[in-house]
Amino acid sequence: MVILDGRGLRFRYPGAVLALDGLDLAVRRGETLAILGPNGAGKTTLLLHLNGSLRPEAGTLLLDGEQVAYDGRALQAWRARVGLVLQDPDDQLFAGTVFEDVSFGPMNMGLPESEVRMRVAEALEDVRITALADRPIHMLSLGQKRRVAIAGVLAMRPTVLVLDEPTAGLDPHAVAHLLAVLRRLVDAGTTVVYATHDVDLALAWSDRVALFADGRVIACDAPERAMADAALLRRAHLRRPLLLELAEHACTLGLIRADAPPPRTVAEMAALLTEASDPMRKERGTAATLGENP
Ligand SMILES: Nc1ncnc2c1ncn2[C@@H]1O[C@H](COP(=O)(O)OP(=O)(O)OP(=O)(O)O)[C@@H](O)[C@H]1O
Ligand SMILES: [Mg+2]
Repeated sequence: MVILDGRGLRFRYPGAVLALDGLDLAVRRGETLAILGPNGAGKTTLLLHLNGSLRPEAGTLLLDGEQVAYDGRALQAWRARVGLVLQDPDDQLFAGTVFEDVSFGPMNMGLPESEVRMRVAEALEDVRITALADRPIHMLSLGQKRRVAIAGVLAMRPTVLVLDEPTAGLDPHAVAHLLAVLRRLVDAGTTVVYATHDVDLALAWSDRVALFADGRVIACDAPERAMADAALLRRAHLRRPLLLELAEHACTLGLIRADAPPPRTVAEMAALLTEASDPMRKERGTAATLGENP
């Protein structure tokens, strides 16, 4: 059930910044897990631990129930299973062209060339950048670079996809497209862990959220529960998602029923309002009829 299990992770950067302070986090197989928290809370540091890019000075990390190892072979196998898309694509991309960059991972896995070509073509298509295959990396926009970075990880077909602020800097159309790509992967069984500052995205688009503060997880729960607690949100420097805010007002005004489940998407909010307005319309209709026939 748990695919990645971090227990008591502690990590200090050179220069004595304690970034993870006994952090516990269990990622469940097949879930989408959003990681939220203020700047400097340790989100990126934790993500770098999830594929072995950083090694904790204390604590343990289990991948599929087995303690991870940090020798070259183990790391290569680990990174084929857990793909990490970095916060800044310039830190991730290094090859000359898009094709070369995306093919690096699968080639490194020792796959035959035909398989590599197939995977690259599929990954480029997944993020809709087939037309950019021969473009030099330095001639891409930020959003395009971000897509190349994602394609490079997708081409390895990881079981767990870890993304650091994947929607930052993308236009709304690109965000919708990225989410559609991720949805397809999740539907096919991929586990997705992503760090974000976007509470509205985390509400709509995660099974659970982990709230970070000072190098620890202070809550990990369904988004509508974790993000309803004002004290926790304050500690994680977050605001309540707009839909939860709106639903509370609508409830106070009697526009939606008090026992309604918290809406996570605009469609769910609209459904609650529609459901509540139907009986009102009926009542108004009855009153008008009565008024006409005293
Ligand atoms: N390369 C580094 N060297 C030294 N300290 C670092 C380094 N990278 C991060 N830190 C420190 O470690 C702590 C955690 O940083 P981290 O990048 O994990 O935070 P974050 O939650 O990802 O923040 P953000 O929301 O800004 O991306 C911070 O105090 C930061 O200053
Ligand atoms: Mg970060």
